[in-house]
Amino acid sequence: MERRDCDALVLFGATGDLCYRKIFPALYQLVRRQLLDIPVIGVARQGSEVDGLRDRVRKSVQEFVKDPDTAVVGRLTGLLRYVDGDYNDRATFNALRKALGDAQRPLHYLAIPPSMFATVAEHLSATGSATSARIVVEKPFGRDLASAQELNRTLHKHFPESSIFRIDHYLGKEAVQNLLYFRFANSFLEPVWNRNYVASVQITMAETLDVAGRGRFYEEAGAIRDVMQNHLMQIVALLALEPPVTIEGEALRDEKVKVLRAVRPLRPAQVVRGQYAGYRKEQGVAADSQVETYAAMALAIDSWRWSGVPFYLRAGKRLPVTATEVVLDLRPPPANVFGDFGPELPNHVRFRVGPDVAIALGAHTKKSGPVMTGRDVELFVAQQQGADMDAYEVLISAALIGDTTHFAREDEVEAAWAIVDPVLRGLPAPYEYVAGSWGPPQAEKLLQGPCGWHNPGARAQDWTRSCARVAPD
Ligand code: BG6
Repeated sequence: MERRDCDALVLFGATGDLCYRKIFPALYQLVRRQLLDIPVIGVARQGSEVDGLRDRVRKSVQEFVKDPDTAVVGRLTGLLRYVDGDYNDRATFNALRKALGDAQRPLHYLAIPPSMFATVAEHLSATGSATSARIVVEKPFGRDLASAQELNRTLHKHFPESSIFRIDHYLGKEAVQNLLYFRFANSFLEPVWNRNYVASVQITMAETLDVAGRGRFYEEAGAIRDVMQNHLMQIVALLALEPPVTIEGEALRDEKVKVLRAVRPLRPAQVVRGQYAGYRKEQGVAADSQVETYAAMALAIDSWRWSGVPFYLRAGKRLPVTATEVVLDLRPPPANVFGDFGPELPNHVRFRVGPDVAIALGAHTKKSGPVMTGRDVELFVAQQQGADMDAYEVLISAALIGDTTHFAREDEVEAAWAIVDPVLRGLPAPYEYVAGSWGPPQAEKLLQGPCGWHNPGARAQDWTRSCARVAPD
Protein backbone atom coordinates (compact mmCIF):
# COMPACT_ATOMS: atom_id res chain seq x y z
CA MET A 1 0.00 0.00 0.00
CA GLU A 2 1.28 3.41 -0.90
CA ARG A 3 1.07 5.42 2.30
CA ARG A 4 0.02 9.01 1.94
CA ASP A 5 -0.99 10.61 5.21
CA CYS A 6 -3.73 13.19 5.62
CA ASP A 7 -2.64 16.63 6.69
CA ALA A 8 -5.91 17.84 8.28
CA LEU A 9 -8.95 16.23 9.85
CA VAL A 10 -12.33 17.89 9.32
CA LEU A 11 -15.21 16.85 11.58
CA PHE A 12 -18.66 17.63 10.23
CA GLY A 13 -21.18 17.32 13.06
CA ALA A 14 -18.51 18.37 15.56
CA THR A 15 -21.06 19.23 18.23
CA GLY A 16 -23.08 16.02 17.73
CA ASP A 17 -23.39 12.87 19.77
CA LEU A 18 -21.04 10.66 17.75
CA CYS A 19 -18.14 13.09 18.09
CA TYR A 20 -18.84 13.49 21.78
CA ARG A 21 -19.15 9.81 22.65
CA LYS A 22 -16.74 8.14 20.23
CA ILE A 23 -14.62 10.42 18.08
CA PHE A 24 -13.17 12.85 20.64
CA PRO A 25 -12.11 10.06 23.05
CA ALA A 26 -10.50 8.27 20.08
CA LEU A 27 -8.67 11.45 19.04
CA TYR A 28 -7.41 11.85 22.60
CA GLN A 29 -5.92 8.35 22.47
CA LEU A 30 -4.36 9.00 19.07
CA VAL A 31 -2.73 12.17 20.37
CA ARG A 32 -1.53 10.25 23.43
CA ARG A 33 0.03 7.62 21.16
CA GLN A 34 1.55 10.37 19.03
CA LEU A 35 -0.44 9.25 16.01
CA LEU A 36 -2.26 12.55 15.55
CA ASP A 37 -0.54 15.86 15.12
CA ILE A 38 -2.49 17.64 12.38
CA PRO A 39 -5.11 20.39 12.53
CA VAL A 40 -8.56 19.14 13.55
CA ILE A 41 -11.27 21.39 12.19
CA GLY A 42 -14.75 21.09 13.67
CA VAL A 43 -17.68 22.19 11.53
CA ALA A 44 -21.15 22.73 13.02
CA ARG A 45 -23.89 25.28 13.26
CA GLN A 46 -23.88 26.46 16.85
CA GLY A 47 -23.17 30.16 16.54
CA SER A 48 -20.10 29.56 18.71
CA GLU A 49 -16.32 29.84 18.52
CA VAL A 50 -13.41 27.44 18.82
CA ASP A 51 -13.55 27.80 22.63
CA GLY A 52 -16.97 26.15 22.63
CA LEU A 53 -15.53 23.17 20.76
CA ARG A 54 -12.55 22.97 23.10
CA ASP A 55 -14.92 22.84 26.08
CA ARG A 56 -16.92 20.08 24.50
CA VAL A 57 -13.79 18.04 23.75
CA ARG A 58 -12.59 18.45 27.34
CA LYS A 59 -15.99 17.31 28.67
CA SER A 60 -16.08 14.32 26.36
CA VAL A 61 -12.60 13.21 27.39
CA GLN A 62 -13.48 13.71 31.05
CA GLU A 63 -16.55 11.53 30.64
CA PHE A 64 -15.20 8.74 28.46
CA VAL A 65 -11.47 8.46 29.15
CA LYS A 66 -10.20 6.97 32.39
CA ASP A 67 -7.67 9.22 34.12
CA PRO A 68 -6.97 11.53 31.20
CA ASP A 69 -3.61 13.23 31.07
CA THR A 70 -4.06 17.01 31.07
CA ALA A 71 -0.99 17.52 28.89
CA VAL A 72 -2.50 15.25 26.22
CA VAL A 73 -5.86 17.05 26.47
CA GLY A 74 -3.95 20.31 26.00
CA ARG A 75 -2.20 18.94 22.91
CA LEU A 76 -5.53 17.83 21.46
CA THR A 77 -7.34 21.11 22.12
CA GLY A 78 -4.33 22.91 20.67
CA LEU A 79 -4.99 21.17 17.34
CA LEU A 80 -8.60 22.36 17.18
CA ARG A 81 -10.01 24.92 14.79
CA TYR A 82 -13.65 25.66 14.22
CA VAL A 83 -15.90 26.73 11.35
CA ASP A 84 -19.44 27.73 12.20
CA GLY A 85 -22.10 27.57 9.54
CA ASP A 86 -24.93 25.88 7.72
CA TYR A 87 -24.15 22.87 5.52
CA ASN A 88 -26.47 24.29 2.86
CA ASP A 89 -24.51 27.51 2.67
CA ARG A 90 -21.53 27.76 0.28
CA ALA A 91 -19.99 30.38 2.61
CA THR A 92 -19.42 27.68 5.25
CA PHE A 93 -17.28 25.76 2.78
CA ASN A 94 -15.36 28.83 1.69
CA ALA A 95 -14.56 29.42 5.35
CA LEU A 96 -13.52 25.79 5.67
CA ARG A 97 -11.18 26.10 2.69
CA LYS A 98 -9.58 29.08 4.39
CA ALA A 99 -9.27 27.22 7.69
CA LEU A 100 -7.58 24.34 5.86
CA GLY A 101 -4.76 26.71 4.90
CA ASP A 102 -2.02 24.80 3.09
CA ALA A 103 -3.51 21.38 3.74
CA GLN A 104 -3.45 19.29 0.55
CA ARG A 105 -4.99 16.06 1.72
CA PRO A 106 -7.77 16.59 4.25
CA LEU A 107 -9.82 13.77 5.74
CA HIS A 108 -13.46 14.84 5.89
CA TYR A 109 -15.38 12.90 8.53
CA LEU A 110 -19.14 13.12 7.99
CA ALA A 111 -20.61 12.51 11.44
CA ILE A 112 -23.92 13.88 10.20
CA PRO A 113 -27.23 12.41 8.98
CA PRO A 114 -26.88 10.65 5.60
CA SER A 115 -29.49 12.99 4.13
CA MET A 116 -26.77 15.69 4.25
CA PHE A 117 -23.98 13.65 2.57
CA ALA A 118 -24.81 14.77 -0.98
CA THR A 119 -24.97 18.47 -0.08
CA VAL A 120 -21.70 18.41 1.84
CA ALA A 121 -19.88 16.40 -0.85
CA GLU A 122 -21.04 18.82 -3.52
CA HIS A 123 -19.95 21.94 -1.61
CA LEU A 124 -16.58 20.37 -0.77
CA SER A 125 -16.04 19.68 -4.42
CA ALA A 126 -17.11 23.14 -5.58
CA THR A 127 -14.83 24.90 -3.10
CA GLY A 128 -11.72 22.88 -3.92
CA SER A 129 -11.70 20.85 -0.69
CA ALA A 130 -12.42 17.49 -2.32
CA THR A 131 -9.31 17.27 -4.50
CA SER A 132 -6.93 14.63 -3.09
CA ALA A 133 -9.15 14.46 -0.02
CA ARG A 134 -10.62 11.43 1.72
CA ILE A 135 -14.11 11.14 3.07
CA VAL A 136 -15.35 9.04 6.00
CA VAL A 137 -19.05 8.23 6.19
CA GLU A 138 -20.85 6.57 9.06
CA LYS A 139 -23.56 3.99 8.95
CA PRO A 140 -26.43 3.76 8.21
CA PHE A 141 -25.26 3.63 4.60
CA GLY A 142 -28.67 3.85 2.96
CA ARG A 143 -31.83 2.23 4.25
CA ASP A 144 -32.19 -0.45 1.58
CA LEU A 145 -30.41 -1.62 -1.56
CA ALA A 146 -31.77 1.12 -3.84
CA SER A 147 -30.90 3.99 -1.47
CA ALA A 148 -27.41 2.57 -0.85
CA GLN A 149 -26.81 2.44 -4.61
CA GLU A 150 -28.05 6.00 -4.92
CA LEU A 151 -25.74 7.14 -2.13
CA ASN A 152 -22.79 5.43 -3.79
CA ARG A 153 -23.57 7.20 -7.06
CA THR A 154 -23.76 10.53 -5.24
CA LEU A 155 -20.43 10.13 -3.46
CA HIS A 156 -18.72 8.90 -6.61
CA LYS A 157 -19.58 12.14 -8.38
CA HIS A 158 -17.00 13.84 -6.18
CA PHE A 159 -14.75 11.13 -4.68
CA PRO A 160 -13.17 8.01 -6.20
CA GLU A 161 -13.90 4.75 -4.37
CA SER A 162 -10.33 4.59 -3.03
CA SER A 163 -10.98 7.86 -1.14
CA ILE A 164 -14.26 6.76 0.45
CA PHE A 165 -14.07 5.17 3.89
CA ARG A 166 -17.41 3.64 4.98
CA ILE A 167 -17.22 2.97 8.68
CA ASP A 168 -18.55 -0.18 10.22
CA HIS A 169 -17.02 0.06 13.68
CA TYR A 170 -17.17 -3.75 14.07
CA LEU A 171 -14.37 -3.94 11.50
CA GLY A 172 -12.15 -1.94 13.83
CA LYS A 173 -12.74 -4.28 16.76
CA GLU A 174 -9.81 -6.32 17.93
CA ALA A 175 -11.90 -9.48 18.26
CA VAL A 176 -13.41 -9.14 14.78
CA GLN A 177 -9.97 -8.74 13.23
CA ASN A 178 -8.91 -11.75 15.28
CA LEU A 179 -11.51 -13.91 13.49
CA LEU A 180 -9.56 -13.37 10.34
CA TYR A 181 -6.19 -13.83 11.98
CA PHE A 182 -7.18 -17.00 13.78
CA ARG A 183 -8.67 -18.51 10.63
CA PHE A 184 -5.73 -17.90 8.36
CA ALA A 185 -2.73 -17.98 10.69
CA ASN A 186 -3.45 -21.56 11.81
CA SER A 187 -3.30 -24.68 9.67
CA PHE A 188 -5.36 -26.94 11.94
CA LEU A 189 -8.63 -25.13 11.20
CA GLU A 190 -8.72 -25.27 7.43
CA PRO A 191 -9.44 -29.03 7.13
CA VAL A 192 -12.62 -28.66 9.22
CA TRP A 193 -13.68 -25.19 8.11
CA ASN A 194 -16.24 -26.32 5.57
CA ARG A 195 -19.49 -28.16 4.97
CA ASN A 196 -17.90 -31.56 5.63
CA TYR A 197 -17.27 -30.81 9.30
CA VAL A 198 -19.29 -27.74 10.25
CA ALA A 199 -22.94 -28.49 11.03
CA SER A 200 -24.08 -24.91 11.61
CA VAL A 201 -22.90 -21.45 12.57
CA GLN A 202 -24.57 -19.13 15.07
CA ILE A 203 -23.92 -15.46 15.67
CA THR A 204 -25.61 -13.71 18.58
CA MET A 205 -25.32 -10.01 19.28
CA ALA A 206 -27.13 -9.41 22.58
CA GLU A 207 -27.54 -6.09 24.35
CA THR A 208 -29.16 -5.40 27.71
CA LEU A 209 -29.65 -1.77 26.70
CA ASP A 210 -32.96 -0.50 25.40
CA VAL A 211 -32.94 2.02 22.56
CA ALA A 212 -31.20 4.39 24.97
CA GLY A 213 -32.95 7.64 24.10
CA ARG A 214 -32.55 6.95 20.37
CA GLY A 215 -36.22 6.01 19.86
CA ARG A 216 -36.70 8.30 16.88
CA PHE A 217 -33.61 6.96 15.12
CA TYR A 218 -34.56 3.40 15.94
CA GLU A 219 -38.04 3.81 14.51
CA GLU A 220 -36.37 4.50 11.15
CA ALA A 221 -33.99 1.58 11.52
CA GLY A 222 -34.93 -1.49 13.57
CA ALA A 223 -32.50 -4.30 14.38
CA ILE A 224 -32.11 -5.57 10.79
CA ARG A 225 -30.98 -2.21 9.41
CA ASP A 226 -29.21 -1.08 12.56
CA VAL A 227 -26.87 -4.00 13.17
CA MET A 228 -27.62 -7.05 11.01
CA GLN A 229 -27.08 -5.63 7.52
CA ASN A 230 -23.71 -4.29 8.64
CA HIS A 231 -22.06 -5.63 11.82
CA LEU A 232 -23.42 -9.17 11.63
CA MET A 233 -23.02 -9.53 7.85
CA GLN A 234 -19.40 -8.44 8.20
CA ILE A 235 -18.88 -11.21 10.73
CA VAL A 236 -20.55 -13.70 8.36
CA ALA A 237 -18.22 -12.56 5.59
CA LEU A 238 -15.08 -12.96 7.71
CA LEU A 239 -16.13 -16.42 8.87
CA ALA A 240 -17.13 -17.65 5.44
CA LEU A 241 -14.74 -16.03 2.96
CA GLU A 242 -12.07 -17.89 1.02
CA PRO A 243 -8.43 -17.20 1.94
CA PRO A 244 -7.37 -13.84 0.50
CA VAL A 245 -4.06 -13.87 -1.35
CA THR A 246 -2.80 -11.16 0.95
CA ILE A 247 -4.17 -8.90 3.63
CA GLU A 248 -3.05 -5.84 1.68
CA GLY A 249 -4.87 -3.89 -0.96
CA GLU A 250 -8.23 -5.07 -2.21
CA ALA A 251 -7.74 -8.84 -1.85
CA LEU A 252 -9.65 -9.14 1.41
CA ARG A 253 -12.55 -7.00 0.28
CA ASP A 254 -12.73 -8.95 -3.00
CA GLU A 255 -13.22 -12.17 -1.04
CA LYS A 256 -15.82 -10.60 1.23
CA VAL A 257 -17.87 -9.46 -1.73
CA LYS A 258 -17.63 -12.91 -3.32
CA VAL A 259 -19.04 -14.67 -0.30
CA LEU A 260 -21.72 -12.05 0.46
CA ARG A 261 -22.94 -12.45 -3.11
CA ALA A 262 -23.22 -16.19 -2.51
CA VAL A 263 -25.62 -15.64 0.40
CA ARG A 264 -29.16 -16.29 -0.75
CA PRO A 265 -31.44 -13.25 -0.37
CA LEU A 266 -33.71 -13.83 2.60
CA ARG A 267 -37.28 -15.05 2.36
CA PRO A 268 -39.81 -14.04 5.04
CA ALA A 269 -39.96 -17.60 6.44
CA GLN A 270 -36.25 -17.34 7.32
CA VAL A 271 -36.76 -14.34 9.61
CA VAL A 272 -38.37 -13.92 13.03
CA ARG A 273 -38.79 -10.41 14.36
CA GLY A 274 -39.48 -9.39 17.95
CA GLN A 275 -40.21 -6.23 19.91
CA TYR A 276 -39.61 -5.94 23.65
CA ALA A 277 -42.65 -5.17 25.78
CA GLY A 278 -42.47 -1.49 26.66
CA TYR A 279 -40.70 -0.37 23.47
CA ARG A 280 -43.79 1.50 22.30
CA LYS A 281 -43.63 3.67 25.41
CA GLU A 282 -40.08 4.85 24.64
CA GLN A 283 -39.66 8.49 23.69
CA GLY A 284 -39.99 9.05 19.94
CA VAL A 285 -41.61 5.64 19.34
CA ALA A 286 -45.05 5.28 17.74
CA ALA A 287 -47.78 3.80 19.95
CA ASP A 288 -48.44 1.16 17.28
CA SER A 289 -44.83 0.72 16.14
CA GLN A 290 -44.07 -2.39 14.07
CA VAL A 291 -40.31 -1.88 14.29
CA GLU A 292 -38.24 -4.85 15.48
CA THR A 293 -35.90 -4.54 18.45
CA TYR A 294 -34.91 -8.16 17.89
CA ALA A 295 -34.42 -10.26 14.79
CA ALA A 296 -33.27 -13.78 14.12
CA MET A 297 -32.54 -15.18 10.68
CA ALA A 298 -31.31 -18.32 8.97
CA LEU A 299 -28.96 -17.67 6.05
CA ALA A 300 -27.98 -20.10 3.33
CA ILE A 301 -24.69 -19.66 1.47
CA ASP A 302 -24.56 -21.15 -2.01
CA SER A 303 -20.84 -21.69 -2.15
CA TRP A 304 -18.63 -24.74 -2.62
CA ARG A 305 -17.48 -24.47 1.00
CA TRP A 306 -20.77 -23.74 2.76
CA SER A 307 -23.59 -25.24 0.76
CA GLY A 308 -26.09 -26.81 3.19
CA VAL A 309 -24.60 -25.23 6.33
CA PRO A 310 -27.10 -22.86 7.97
CA PHE A 311 -25.80 -19.59 9.37
CA TYR A 312 -28.10 -18.42 12.16
CA LEU A 313 -27.94 -14.76 13.13
CA ARG A 314 -29.67 -13.07 16.03
CA ALA A 315 -29.51 -9.55 17.48
CA GLY A 316 -31.63 -7.80 20.05
CA LYS A 317 -32.05 -5.06 22.61
CA ARG A 318 -33.14 -5.74 26.21
CA LEU A 319 -31.75 -9.26 26.25
CA PRO A 320 -30.27 -10.81 29.41
CA VAL A 321 -26.61 -9.89 28.75
CA THR A 322 -24.48 -7.66 26.57
CA ALA A 323 -22.26 -9.93 24.54
CA THR A 324 -21.56 -10.90 20.96
CA GLU A 325 -20.54 -14.47 20.24
CA VAL A 326 -20.01 -16.75 17.28
CA VAL A 327 -20.28 -20.53 17.58
CA LEU A 328 -19.45 -23.05 14.88
CA ASP A 329 -20.88 -26.46 15.73
CA LEU A 330 -19.01 -29.38 14.26
CA ARG A 331 -20.67 -32.55 13.05
CA PRO A 332 -20.63 -35.47 15.48
CA PRO A 333 -18.13 -38.34 15.12
CA PRO A 334 -19.26 -40.98 12.60
CA ALA A 335 -20.31 -43.44 15.32
CA ASN A 336 -21.29 -43.08 18.95
CA VAL A 337 -18.94 -45.60 20.57
CA PHE A 338 -20.20 -44.69 24.07
CA GLY A 339 -23.93 -45.18 23.47
CA ASP A 340 -26.03 -43.50 26.16
CA PHE A 341 -22.83 -42.20 27.75
CA GLY A 342 -21.77 -40.45 24.57
CA PRO A 343 -21.46 -36.68 24.31
CA GLU A 344 -24.50 -34.43 24.09
CA LEU A 345 -23.10 -31.14 22.88
CA PRO A 346 -21.36 -30.99 19.53
CA ASN A 347 -17.70 -30.00 19.36
CA HIS A 348 -17.52 -26.31 18.71
CA VAL A 349 -15.33 -23.33 18.00
CA ARG A 350 -16.47 -20.26 19.90
CA PHE A 351 -15.44 -16.65 19.39
CA ARG A 352 -16.43 -14.04 21.90
CA VAL A 353 -16.36 -10.79 20.01
CA GLY A 354 -17.41 -8.47 22.83
CA PRO A 355 -17.37 -7.00 25.38
CA ASP A 356 -14.21 -9.00 26.08
CA VAL A 357 -12.28 -11.17 23.66
CA ALA A 358 -12.04 -14.96 23.73
CA ILE A 359 -11.54 -17.93 21.43
CA ALA A 360 -12.45 -21.35 22.78
CA LEU A 361 -12.67 -24.90 21.47
CA GLY A 362 -15.37 -27.16 22.89
CA ALA A 363 -14.49 -30.84 23.32
CA HIS A 364 -15.35 -33.88 25.42
CA THR A 365 -13.18 -35.79 27.85
CA LYS A 366 -13.89 -38.70 30.15
CA LYS A 367 -15.27 -37.99 33.57
CA SER A 368 -13.09 -39.76 36.12
CA GLY A 369 -14.70 -42.90 37.51
CA PRO A 370 -15.60 -46.42 36.50
CA VAL A 371 -18.21 -45.49 33.85
CA MET A 372 -17.21 -44.43 30.33
CA THR A 373 -19.13 -41.21 30.51
CA GLY A 374 -17.89 -37.80 29.56
CA ARG A 375 -17.86 -34.15 30.43
CA ASP A 376 -17.77 -31.08 28.23
CA VAL A 377 -14.63 -29.04 28.41
CA GLU A 378 -13.51 -25.88 26.69
CA LEU A 379 -9.98 -25.09 25.77
CA PHE A 380 -9.45 -21.34 25.84
CA VAL A 381 -7.10 -20.49 23.02
CA ALA A 382 -7.06 -16.81 23.88
CA GLN A 383 -8.80 -14.62 26.39
CA GLN A 384 -8.33 -10.99 27.25
CA GLN A 385 -10.33 -8.27 28.92
CA GLY A 386 -10.67 -5.84 26.08
CA ALA A 387 -8.82 -4.29 23.23
CA ASP A 388 -5.80 -2.12 23.58
CA MET A 389 -7.20 0.25 20.97
CA ASP A 390 -10.86 1.14 20.61
CA ALA A 391 -12.47 0.47 17.21
CA TYR A 392 -12.71 4.19 16.42
CA GLU A 393 -9.02 4.71 17.12
CA VAL A 394 -8.13 1.84 14.82
CA LEU A 395 -10.36 3.10 12.03
CA ILE A 396 -9.56 6.81 12.23
CA SER A 397 -5.84 6.11 12.22
CA ALA A 398 -6.29 3.75 9.24
CA ALA A 399 -8.26 6.36 7.29
CA LEU A 400 -5.61 8.99 8.04
CA ILE A 401 -2.96 6.84 6.37
CA GLY A 402 -5.28 5.73 3.56
CA ASP A 403 -5.64 2.06 4.50
CA THR A 404 -9.07 0.92 3.27
CA THR A 405 -8.76 -2.73 4.41
CA HIS A 406 -11.16 -2.45 7.33
CA PHE A 407 -13.76 -0.26 5.67
CA ALA A 408 -16.75 -1.43 3.67
CA ARG A 409 -16.41 -1.11 -0.08
CA GLU A 410 -19.23 0.00 -2.36
CA ASP A 411 -20.00 -3.49 -3.70
CA GLU A 412 -19.68 -5.03 -0.22
CA VAL A 413 -22.32 -2.73 1.25
CA GLU A 414 -24.62 -3.35 -1.69
CA ALA A 415 -24.16 -7.14 -1.46
CA ALA A 416 -25.08 -7.02 2.24
CA TRP A 417 -28.19 -4.94 1.49
CA ALA A 418 -29.19 -7.38 -1.26
CA ILE A 419 -29.39 -10.17 1.36
CA VAL A 420 -31.79 -8.35 3.70
CA ASP A 421 -33.62 -6.18 1.17
CA PRO A 422 -36.48 -8.67 0.53
CA VAL A 423 -37.41 -8.74 4.24
CA LEU A 424 -37.25 -5.02 5.00
CA ARG A 425 -40.90 -4.57 4.11
CA GLY A 426 -44.15 -6.48 4.37
CA LEU A 427 -43.23 -8.90 7.15
CA PRO A 428 -45.82 -9.89 9.78
CA ALA A 429 -45.86 -7.76 12.95
CA PRO A 430 -43.00 -8.52 15.36
CA TYR A 431 -43.70 -10.88 18.28
CA GLU A 432 -43.63 -9.20 21.65
CA TYR A 433 -41.01 -10.53 24.08
CA VAL A 434 -40.40 -9.93 27.74
CA ALA A 435 -37.62 -7.42 28.38
CA GLY A 436 -34.68 -9.29 29.85
CA SER A 437 -35.58 -12.56 28.09
CA TRP A 438 -33.82 -14.15 25.09
CA GLY A 439 -36.44 -12.84 22.65
CA PRO A 440 -39.55 -14.45 21.21
CA PRO A 441 -39.72 -18.25 21.53
CA GLN A 442 -40.74 -18.43 17.85
CA ALA A 443 -37.05 -17.86 16.99
CA GLU A 444 -36.27 -21.38 18.24
CA LYS A 445 -38.17 -22.77 15.27
CA LEU A 446 -35.63 -21.36 12.84
CA LEU A 447 -33.01 -23.80 14.06
CA GLN A 448 -32.57 -27.25 12.59
CA GLY A 449 -30.55 -29.95 14.30
CA PRO A 450 -30.23 -31.06 17.90
CA CYS A 451 -29.23 -27.76 19.53
CA GLY A 452 -31.07 -24.61 20.50
CA TRP A 453 -29.58 -21.12 20.48
CA HIS A 454 -26.25 -20.66 22.15
CA ASN A 455 -26.75 -18.00 24.83
CA PRO A 456 -23.66 -16.00 25.75
CA GLY A 457 -23.07 -15.30 29.43
CA ALA A 458 -21.98 -12.15 31.23
CA ARG A 459 -18.49 -13.67 31.48
CA ALA A 460 -16.84 -15.48 28.59
CA GLN A 461 -17.02 -18.88 30.33
CA ASP A 462 -20.71 -18.66 31.33
CA TRP A 463 -22.54 -19.51 28.12
CA THR A 464 -25.51 -21.89 28.08
CA ARG A 465 -27.39 -23.93 25.53
CA SER A 466 -29.45 -27.06 25.36
CA CYS A 467 -29.04 -29.89 22.91
CA ALA A 468 -30.66 -33.24 22.43
CA ARG A 469 -28.10 -36.05 22.28
CA VAL A 470 -26.04 -35.72 19.13
CA ALA A 471 -26.73 -38.63 16.85
CA PRO A 472 -24.09 -39.71 14.34
CA ASP A 473 -24.87 -38.56 10.79
C1 BG6 B 1 -24.31 0.52 16.68
C2 BG6 B 1 -25.82 0.43 16.75
O1 BG6 B 1 -23.88 0.48 15.34
O2 BG6 B 1 -23.74 -0.56 17.39
C3 BG6 B 1 -26.29 0.38 18.20
O3 BG6 B 1 -26.38 1.55 16.10
C4 BG6 B 1 -25.56 -0.70 18.96
O4 BG6 B 1 -27.70 0.19 18.26
C5 BG6 B 1 -24.05 -0.57 18.77
O5 BG6 B 1 -25.90 -0.57 20.33
C6 BG6 B 1 -23.31 -1.72 19.43
O6 BG6 B 1 -21.94 -1.50 19.32
P1 BG6 B 1 -20.93 -2.17 20.35
O7 BG6 B 1 -19.60 -1.75 19.88
O8 BG6 B 1 -21.29 -1.64 21.69
O9 BG6 B 1 -21.16 -3.66 20.26
